[in-house]
Amino acid sequence: MKIQGIPYRTIWPDGGLVRVIDQARLPFELRVVELRSLRDAATAISRMTVRGAPLIGATAAYGVALALREDPGDGALGTAIETLLSTRPTAFNLAWSLERMRKRLAPLAPSRRAAAAWEEAAAICEEDVAHCRAIGAHGAALISRIADRAAGRAVNVLTHCNAGWLACVDWGTALAPIYHAHDAGLAVHVWVDETRPRNQGASLTAYELGAHGVPHTVIADNLGGHLMQRGQVDLVLVGSDRVTAGGDVCNKVGTYLKALAARDNRVPFYAALPFSTIDWSLSDGERIPIEERSPSELTHVSGALEDGRVVSVRVVPEASRALNLAFDVTPARLVSGIVTERGVCAASAEGLRALYPGCGAAA
Ligand code: MRU
Repeated sequence: MKIQGIPYRTIWPDGGLVRVIDQARLPFELRVVELRSLRDAATAISRMTVRGAPLIGATAAYGVALALREDPGDGALGTAIETLLSTRPTAFNLAWSLERMRKRLAPLAPSRRAAAAWEEAAAICEEDVAHCRAIGAHGAALISRIADRAAGRAVNVLTHCNAGWLACVDWGTALAPIYHAHDAGLAVHVWVDETRPRNQGASLTAYELGAHGVPHTVIADNLGGHLMQRGQVDLVLVGSDRVTAGGDVCNKVGTYLKALAARDNRVPFYAALPFSTIDWSLSDGERIPIEERSPSELTHVSGALEDGRVVSVRVVPEASRALNLAFDVTPARLVSGIVTERGVCAASAEGLRALYPGCGAAA
């Protein structure tokens, strides 16, 4: 996608190192940083320089390539995979990507591994772009059907967190259908949940929608239910960090409450995600590991002063404890459908298996 007319991806290799957009600095500064080692890649994921399920997977793949450049032996390969796997627990794309790297690299002679690792990481990125583009086309059909009934007014889509191109390599998952619909000339307006505590909606989703010219309005996380009661939301469209074989959807904390409000108000609630997000080994969303992050993300808020300096300020009394669980799980029964690169299916074992025959013998 483009920023000020210049096409960007979130991650790309460059002469033996890897470049990524530093998302911790957005929306105040567009800065590209270099990853030169396994440690750089692991730190970028755990500190959320890069974030979003597909991008975490892509960065981990390049992390393996960076590690094998130093040492292509079995020990180094195992260490790289373990190190990267421990960076963040919830997004399944991380484990998926590392398993794909392991399967491709482990059988090779060490002398051939480094080159193969760069190739495979690039293939993972290209596949993610193709999958997200296809998700966009399938999801845009949903928006188009709503537009047919909207008698010329804009279709109002509510989204949570950032599931746009910044969360992937390009295009995005939940935002890809919005970009497709907008580019095709449909009038779309996006309600952007701010997404406390890290404000990925306010800082990243608003940034990328604005850069692409998509009309949007940032709202407090708690406003969505009220807007749905007033008929101001046509569709809720979110991404996912892990979907079970039974169709339970894990996403940024707060998503479940949006699904409850959507059900109560008969607003369709869809999750958009690529194959790499589906954990076929799990049938039950309660077994998804939920990341607990530092309470400081809750007790402090960062923002820009009038003079441009970005500072962090405390908003919670020093003596108060804070609990920062980063994700929640929306049960399949609250999900109207799942948009994948292969099409739209019911959020159920049968629905997912119909799109992915041979997968889904979940425990
Ligand atoms: O903690 P984050 O910013 O990595 O969480 C991201 C999300 O929850 C996204 O909604 C999710 O990864 C969707 S993927 C495009």
